[in-house]
Amino acid sequence: MHVDDRLQHIAFIMDGNGRWAKMRGEKREYGHREGSETFKRVISYCGDIGIKVVTVYAFSTENWKRPKTEVNSIMKLLNTYLSNCEKELMEKGVRFRMIGDKSALSPALIKKIERIEKATEDNPLLLNFALNYGGRAEIVAAVNKLITEGKTITEQDISNALYTFDCPEPDLIVRTGGDLRISNFLIWQAAYSELYFTDTLWPDMSEADIDAAVHEFYSRERRYGGVIKVSPKN
Ligand code: IPE
Ligand code: IPE
Ligand code: MG
Repeated sequence: MHVDDRLQHIAFIMDGNGRWAKMRGEKREYGHREGSETFKRVISYCGDIGIKVVTVYAFSTENWKRPKTEVNSIMKLLNTYLSNCEKELMEKGVRFRMIGDKSALSPALIKKIERIEKATEDNPLLLNFALNYGGRAEIVAAVNKLITEGKTITEQDISNALYTFDCPEPDLIVRTGGDLRISNFLIWQAAYSELYFTDTLWPDMSEADIDAAVHEFYSRERRYGGVIKVSPKN
């Protein structure tokens, strides 16, 4: 499996960790731990098949509503990942960038994130790690930034002011876990993304599942509101 320029950016809504754990009679935290292993496997595989930009939804602006113990265990997992990821990111040529509001994170976590961002900034592939991310919050932040410039705002201005200003919009958004919604993820950038929903729970997401999503992507016709040329026989 290798992709071409039509599929540069895949975004994942990594959902279903909690249910995966419950099905095994375990706490939700156990699912997050397994999910973080799946995340590492998935980004590595995406690099192998030629995807240039991967965006993962790790924690939303709404996920703070969860019990404190669950939030803490997710933050702990993140901390562990950030302490160990640099070697692999460098080997795979992946630039790490957090997208989201850093201000609500602990100073120690922010420091780690910024260190990884700096260490990997010249790598050719891009991993957007959506943490304390909300699509609405992203747009509000962009608009506030533009208001200070005091001019009439265009679509391009907003695109340029988003966290993702320097990368192509997602060609494909994959949501695991069976729910058919976007949950405040990339709501601006997803205007013409192809959407793929699977019942597979995130910890079970395999290379074959990614191949299936990519295969489905290539069977879609992207029209962007236009019309596709039909042959004279039709
Ligand atoms: C996704 O899995 C991970 C986060 C949102 C942090 P969930 O924790 O939402 O798992 P389910 O949807 O409850 O199974
Ligand atoms: C979306 O999953 C957020 C992440 C995967 C980080 P949620 O589990 O938070 O979404 P809802 O609550 O089912 O919409
Ligand atoms: Mg969920």
